[in-house]
Amino acid sequence: MHENLIKKAKQILTENYQPGGFTLPCKNLYPFQWLWDSGFIAIGFAHFDMPKAKQEISTLLDAQWENGFIPHIIFHTDTDTYFPGADFHRSDLHPLSSKKYKSTGMTQPPVTGFVLEEMYNISPDKEDLLTFIESEIDKVYANHRYFYQHRDINNEGLVYIYHNWESGTDNSPIWDDIWATVDSPRYDFQRRDTSHVDASQRPSKREYDHYLHIIEIAKQHNYSDEKIAELSPFLVQDPLFNAMLIKSNESLIKLYKRIGNNEDKVRQLEQWQQLSISSFNSKLYDEELGCYIHYDLRNNKPLRYISSSSFAPLFANIPDKERAAEMVNTMMTKFGNPDQYLCASFDPTSERYNPKQYWRGPVWINLNWMLYKGLTQYGYKNIAERVKQDTIALIEINGFYEYFDARKEAHGEVRAGYGGNDFSWSAALLIDMLSD
Ligand code: DGY
Repeated sequence: MHENLIKKAKQILTENYQPGGFTLPCKNLYPFQWLWDSGFIAIGFAHFDMPKAKQEISTLLDAQWENGFIPHIIFHTDTDTYFPGADFHRSDLHPLSSKKYKSTGMTQPPVTGFVLEEMYNISPDKEDLLTFIESEIDKVYANHRYFYQHRDINNEGLVYIYHNWESGTDNSPIWDDIWATVDSPRYDFQRRDTSHVDASQRPSKREYDHYLHIIEIAKQHNYSDEKIAELSPFLVQDPLFNAMLIKSNESLIKLYKRIGNNEDKVRQLEQWQQLSISSFNSKLYDEELGCYIHYDLRNNKPLRYISSSSFAPLFANIPDKERAAEMVNTMMTKFGNPDQYLCASFDPTSERYNPKQYWRGPVWINLNWMLYKGLTQYGYKNIAERVKQDTIALIEINGFYEYFDARKEAHGEVRAGYGGNDFSWSAALLIDMLSD
């Protein structure tokens, strides 16, 4: 079944693979290596070309800074078709940044730990994979140590992000509340994304002003974590980001135990994990909404909106059974109407919902992949199956787009896949879902 889709998906990944040992998220629109894209891409490659899967992760970790930080974009080439590029981000300002690669000075959801475990589970040659993991795992551990040492200012096991681009959900309507508190300058700049993709499907000019403004603040202080925590107008505890960290902690614990002789690291990871899960449950759960939400650390208040990130904790085993049931109920009531594909990225019943614009409503395949796994884990087989079938349908009808309209009526006569086409993680994660 679905042989043609799988064939096409493999072809996309192979064609987006670059001589530098990494894969483009999408030709033209994203011409470098992106952190969480790389992780999902490695899971796809693991099914049919393990050397490329390993290379993807090795290249990513090769760009790690001396303090354990892993940047969100690694600028492997000098292409000037992307804005803001290496010359804007200036990672060289940080004293511990990579001397080998230019990058940004912000990160993205920490997927690398659980990606190593996925690769291990997929591989028919466990011994070979374990050898590979042994060569890379301490770098991932160092990355987690970086988060707990520098991003957890209240010592509560929840790490902050200082930029919307760190969340991965770049222009979520949740950030509107934060932008309303910021008086960013109006910059004069030449965007590149809107020459590749219809502007109505991308963030606005004003949003880009905010994005650049935060980077300027960080640069003024050479990307010092302490200064950023003090000064960034954007300082958020994000449930998707923290769930990824928790999921990766769990994977590191399992993998270190398999390798053996790493009791100290296992103990430290277990300590982090315990505190993280307990604070996540006490601070980020909203009883009234029946799901997890974001917390605005700068303005000291919960951001009470429902997004697909609200359900990601299912993937990381964070809620107990009872809470999981509440979450599933919230998801099906708000997002699960039969005339909608699962799962919109933002609450379809909200007035901020926009079904075509990037993270303000469309369905994303990486979130669907996490929900599929999470729902399966908690025993919601039928809903998990619906997420899987919806994912297949969206790609079958439209192609391997970056994101998709959640409204069923929007599909058919006109294309309702948006953003970039031949998008790598859509291909990679479909391969993984179809192999189940
Ligand atoms: C973009 O350029 O939109 C990227 O998502 C930034 O990471």
